[in-house]
Amino acid sequence: MKSPRPSQPSAVVSRSGRFTEGPSREVARFSQSVSFDWRLWPHDIAGSIAHATMLEKIGVLSAPERRDIVGGLEAIGREIAAGTFPWKEDLEDVHMNIEAALTARVPAAAKLHTARSRNDQVALDMRLWLRAEIAALTGELRDLQRSLVDLGARHPEVVIPGYTHLQRAQPVFFAHHCLAYVEMFERDAGRLADAADRLNECPLGSGAIAGSTLPLDRGLVATLLGFTDAKGRPRLTRNSMDAVSDRDFVVEFGAAASLVAVHLSRLSEDLILWASAEFGFIRIADAYTTGSSLMPQKKNPDIAELTRGKSGRVIGNLVSLLVLLKGLPMTYNRDLQEDKERLFDTADTVRSCVCLTAAMLDHTAVQPAACAAAAKDPLLLATDLADYLVQRGMPFRQAHHAVGALVAFAEKAGRPIDRLTLDEHRAIEPCFEADVLGLYDLSRAMGRRDIPGAPGGRQVDRQIDGWRRRLSVAPPAPPAPPVPPAATAGPRPARRRRTR
Ligand code: ARG
Repeated sequence: MKSPRPSQPSAVVSRSGRFTEGPSREVARFSQSVSFDWRLWPHDIAGSIAHATMLEKIGVLSAPERRDIVGGLEAIGREIAAGTFPWKEDLEDVHMNIEAALTARVPAAAKLHTARSRNDQVALDMRLWLRAEIAALTGELRDLQRSLVDLGARHPEVVIPGYTHLQRAQPVFFAHHCLAYVEMFERDAGRLADAADRLNECPLGSGAIAGSTLPLDRGLVATLLGFTDAKGRPRLTRNSMDAVSDRDFVVEFGAAASLVAVHLSRLSEDLILWASAEFGFIRIADAYTTGSSLMPQKKNPDIAELTRGKSGRVIGNLVSLLVLLKGLPMTYNRDLQEDKERLFDTADTVRSCVCLTAAMLDHTAVQPAACAAAAKDPLLLATDLADYLVQRGMPFRQAHHAVGALVAFAEKAGRPIDRLTLDEHRAIEPCFEADVLGLYDLSRAMGRRDIPGAPGGRQVDRQIDGWRRRLSVAPPAPPAPPVPPAATAGPRPARRRRTR
């Protein structure tokens, strides 16, 4: 579905004669939000259907009136999904557009806004929208984790240098490096789940600021919209003033999404380095790289670079949201309309980065020869030499010093450390015995890394198996709001699904 183009304002609604048509048009254009909040429409309709159902229960609407309203809303939903709904800029936002269209068709719609304000309506729509986005993003993060696990598992034997300060440090299985990111994205999924749980309270019934004098059944509305706890009990906001002015859930999502973006950015940086001729550890498939307009030989990792770059705007959106909120007096202020573009941009950006990164990883080949050439640097095992001396009773500091002297000797001799003779080892440190030369065997060295969390073969295999088991379990489906059938067709491409 394409983004609607609001038609030109034909007339501005209910302006006093003090305003000429010209400035009014400018004001309408300046203050409209329908050009971006139109995408809340499935949730706006779902909220209105639940509200109408409750109004019938408390006797404000008759059964036929409710039926007409629901039928009208469903018809509007179908038109929006089909792209034929005439969005009007002069009707300001998604709420007014839908209500005006409904009222023009269904007389009873004039009762629909009973005990409801756009202030609690927009708070509701945003919560519903974000709940669905978080569920979708969480599923996409799971796919990304699967891609990382698969990439590591496709190359169980490959060892690379692990780096600190971007200097070679100690050998690790390539899979161990991949699984480090799986851990990061797992924490991200946890933060998103926390945010989703906290936003899962229904604000409808808060009115403009102070609830209503009518005996609304807020619990019914909450239940209909899936704002329930594990036992199916309705979850309601407890303070009408807080409910209409609260955008903490937007900030929380912005913060959790920023951390996702930062993790993606760090992963991108690793991939960019690894794809360079200097490292050569991976090759990204042509479809996920671009060429240079000038240099014929270039193959650039643009997806990773853009993902790294886009993290900047996600972080910027978070800062914008915090600054937006910090000076607002209670309760609703129109400033809050500015939350939407930042929220939508964050969700769209992070979701597309997660999906593209996963797809790129699925089309990335590890280059075992380049990895082996880097990993065979014997200096990566200098710490193993120190551990060897410790096992023979030497204090670690002394062992560290002895191995340092051995490294300096090798450097001076112009030979790799594993080419020094046993006598040369013993000349630096007499505690070295004949078995020391066996320490330089990389595959045995990997076997020695066998405590929980370490990058040794047994541990990494165990981690891969564990993640495979965890990730094959689908995340629990979010509670589905009563959205008309047409509403399920959204503007986003369906989430990539893979079977394993
Ligand atoms: N478009 C508005 C927003 O996004 C909806 C709420 C308007 N409420 C009001 N009292 N003007 O915040």
